[in-house]
Amino acid sequence: MLRTHTCGELNATNINQTVTLCGWIQKVRKLGGMIFIDLRDRYGITQLAFNNETNAALCQQVEKFGREWVIRVTGLVAERYSKNKNIPTGDIEIIASEVEVLNESMTPPFTIEDESDGGDELRMKYRYLDLRRNPVKNNILFRHRLAIEIRNYMNNIGFVEIETPFMIKSTPEGARDFVVPSRMNPGEFYALPQSPQTFKQLLMVSGFDRYFQIVRCFRDEDLRADRQPEFTQIDCEMSFVEQEDILNTFEGLIKHIFKKIKNIDIDPIERMTWADAMKYYGSDKPDARFGMRFVELNDVTQHKEFKIFNEAELVVGIVAKGCANYTRKQLDGLVDFVRRPQVGAGGLVYVLCNQDGTFKSSVDKFYDQNDLKAIAAKCNAEAGDLILIMSGPRMKTQKQLCELRLEMGTRLGLRKAGEYKLLWVIDFPLLEWDEETQRFYAMHHPFTAPKPEHEAILESNPGAVNANAYDLVINGTEVGGGSIRIHDRQLQNRMFKVLGFTDEEAQKQFGFLMNAFQYGAPPHGGLAFGFDRMCAVLSDCDSIRDFIAFPKNNSGRDMMIDAPSTISDAQLQELFISVNTKQE
Ligand code: AMO
Repeated sequence: MLRTHTCGELNATNINQTVTLCGWIQKVRKLGGMIFIDLRDRYGITQLAFNNETNAALCQQVEKFGREWVIRVTGLVAERYSKNKNIPTGDIEIIASEVEVLNESMTPPFTIEDESDGGDELRMKYRYLDLRRNPVKNNILFRHRLAIEIRNYMNNIGFVEIETPFMIKSTPEGARDFVVPSRMNPGEFYALPQSPQTFKQLLMVSGFDRYFQIVRCFRDEDLRADRQPEFTQIDCEMSFVEQEDILNTFEGLIKHIFKKIKNIDIDPIERMTWADAMKYYGSDKPDARFGMRFVELNDVTQHKEFKIFNEAELVVGIVAKGCANYTRKQLDGLVDFVRRPQVGAGGLVYVLCNQDGTFKSSVDKFYDQNDLKAIAAKCNAEAGDLILIMSGPRMKTQKQLCELRLEMGTRLGLRKAGEYKLLWVIDFPLLEWDEETQRFYAMHHPFTAPKPEHEAILESNPGAVNANAYDLVINGTEVGGGSIRIHDRQLQNRMFKVLGFTDEEAQKQFGFLMNAFQYGAPPHGGLAFGFDRMCAVLSDCDSIRDFIAFPKNNSGRDMMIDAPSTISDAQLQELFISVNTKQE
């Protein structure tokens, strides 16, 4: 080893020892006859001291050093004159006697400190430097710790980690595939897996009754703070189980993670049906850290002359506690919020429940004090509260009010960092109707089993069929999801028919799975957690990018290596691909 210790481990117990450290120069400071260097490595920072009086030659050498140079230094550990209580090595410094420059460095494009002066783009371009900064480095170390805990736990309860291929045939999971052309099979393409779904089901047929994998998945979809084109799943599958077994098994994992990583004992995870989640929160992933549940108000609003409410499929409100003192400007601000294209509502009705028991609303023309009192009573609103009401088509209005609820939760400080509210959202509908293509799509994926009691109506009333499907939601983020699978070939055939597949199409796309199911497929089910999301949620961060060593930006670009990029004509020819890249 080039070093005897790291920059994070020396303290008062090491005083008078001769040590050798290696690291990067964070800072050089000259103070009278002394030069001080903060030397940094993965483990911390140690102060080096060079004395001009006792070692002038060394000081002359060190004077030329710049930020981020890599040096090796030998010296004596000494008690520091002015101690730094903020760092573990703050009681000591190294009185340097020997220094070797291992490598010089250009001046970095941004400061490598906890608060950097570098913008997002610059730091992405020089990600390898950004990773030297504590906040970014700590996220990556956190991710590692979490992965190790998960692997250990899964191993202890008998799960086997098995790798599945990255070059596969398209898996039907909603997003677009990234594809890889095959040189040896002209005109044919592999797809990168959106998840190992079909393979893990095949592994169940093979008899590996407890499988897991921490695995990269690829989806060509629009990117957001919680979506990357390549991301990591903790992918799991079990045989001879029912939904209850899966929920309990993975509740164990989640409990273990919270205890080990956050030292938090979580309560048994509450379960909420998809229908209730939509009804009370307007979302299949409610942030249940705060109440502000939806109250449907059709019956108390639709008997008056207010056309907008009368014609609406849904009139629905929330109560913002203690907000009756909102100014006109604040109320207008909320109206502007719901009118933003991202929310897309036409407007918002408010009712202020004044302290004196009277009401003031934006629809006073249509509703008298008694009407408003009835609305307030229905909402359980008290004097001092503000009622916010939206209306329109059911699903659309629920989504819009959900946005407003989250915004109010944020404004009122109800979405507290460090507080975790976990939910199993269960009983998802099996299918989702698409107006545009006029057909049903699988809400989860085509292998998800309908609830046994709903199997009979699969063809006659597909929209009413619920699935044995579930999501884990933490603080409003979908951290994971899965289902009990169809293991019966007949039922799978019926499902494909409902989804509009012909026999030939089903055979062509999923023949391999269907055939495998003829050789003794056990009852099975599973789920996958978004590992990047889990890291972010547990750290109270919105962006999963912060937990990925080399992430892509929102246009799917890796700014550092500049990918995607064009390839040479020769490469294209080899792959039998013709691309017209010339501008017209
Ligand atoms: P699903 O598509 O719900 O299920 O994905 C599982 C979890 O993966 C995470 N996730 C993502 N994370 C980051 N970026 C993305 N683009 C992204 N897409 C999804 C989410 C999500 O809950 N095969 C099924 C699982 C199963 O049925 O067992 C599947 O992939 O946290």
